[in-house]
Amino acid sequence: MHTPDQTAYEAPDRLRVAVVGTGNIARFHVEALQSMPEDAALVAAVDVDPDNLALFTDRYGIPQRYSDMDRMLREVQPDLVHLCTPPGMHHGQVLACLRAGASAVVEKPPALSLAEMEEMAAAEGPPGQGPWFATLFQHRFGSGARRVQAMAEAGALGRPLVAVCHTLWYRDQAYFDVPWRGRWDTEGGGPTMGHGIHQMDLLLALLGDWSEVSATARRQAREMETEDLSVGHVSFANGAVAGIINSVLSPREESYVRVDFERATVELSHLYGYGDDDWTITPAPGCAEEIAAAWEAGEAGVNSGHSAQLAHVVSALKAKEAPPVSSTESLRTMRLVAGIYASAAQHRAITAGELRQGSRFFERMHGGGTPW
Ligand SMILES: NC(=O)c1ccc[n+]([C@@H]2O[C@H](COP(=O)([O-])OP(=O)(O)OC[C@H]3O[C@@H](n4cnc5c(N)ncnc54)[C@H](O)[C@@H]3O)[C@@H](O)[C@H]2O)c1
Repeated sequence: MHTPDQTAYEAPDRLRVAVVGTGNIARFHVEALQSMPEDAALVAAVDVDPDNLALFTDRYGIPQRYSDMDRMLREVQPDLVHLCTPPGMHHGQVLACLRAGASAVVEKPPALSLAEMEEMAAAEGPPGQGPWFATLFQHRFGSGARRVQAMAEAGALGRPLVAVCHTLWYRDQAYFDVPWRGRWDTEGGGPTMGHGIHQMDLLLALLGDWSEVSATARRQAREMETEDLSVGHVSFANGAVAGIINSVLSPREESYVRVDFERATVELSHLYGYGDDDWTITPAPGCAEEIAAAWEAGEAGVNSGHSAQLAHVVSALKAKEAPPVSSTESLRTMRLVAGIYASAAQHRAITAGELRQGSRFFERMHGGGTPW
């Protein structure tokens, strides 16, 4: 484990924050940060594209601009860095931040392989001190998900039995013309890694540890290196079983998560973000009053999105706690992604435990070579 300079990370009243990568997604980070000015000050932005950088820093009034992240880390010494760069950059940039004593929030996917994830986790600082990295998985943080999680943890819903997790999205061929998309060495995978990972992360937040997965992945319609479709079923340590589809081929788009617990069916139907009204709770016979009371008692009114998660990230860092979604939790989600690829490539069931050092699917999501 890398041991940071003990004096390097002191959480101040107001975190000094930098953004690296000023393309499409960065604005969601900045707008979230600007909504909490008493807790976070945006002090610098970095991009290798001078036009993107100038437009972005002018628009948001960011005082310092850099073309080189390492120089920014040395000169600015931020408390927190938001990494909004393409996926192939994340591993090296997270390591550089942690080694400079700065915590990082990294966009999904946090790395290209489980090996990279474990190296990043090992570079975090000690409990109570940090620095840490968090992965941007914003769908855990809407009040609907938090309510269901609280109800499940309190035992109000009974045992989870069967679940559905669909990311049925549509991306045309032009979408994959962006050079880093649809390639193993720059995106790490197709819709399993790049799109369905959000819904799968939410599923894992609701159901906990997974134990075994069987999957098929195909390239059905798009010209790209990776899959454009994966279909799997996954077993959980608590006995639940879930069916998963990750697609970029579906003209009627939907993100759908459903869990049938003993006492209620919980459903979420949305596309790229949800509010409380996108959840439906159907109680089992005889459970209506109890389920309605538990649902009404929970947190309400928070839509899923960057703002919801980043509020938790900033408050955790100010309390010197590991920010969500932690390295342990995001590694579990990435292990499921790797399990789907390993199963599809080898035509057999994969256990979570076998995706360790020594497995070729630990080193690279597709295990090397051409999986299908
Ligand atoms: N959480 C979500 O819902 C969500 C949605 C869309 C994208 N994303 C993720 O966000 C990340 C970025 O996606 P995007 O669509 O914003 O990409 P983008 O191509 O629009 O922006 C990336 C930016 O990073 C810059 N960049 C590249 N290399 C750099 C380097 N070495 N140093 C500094 N800047 C560099 C580019 O010049 C560009 O401005 C990806 O990982 C993507 O998967 C997440």
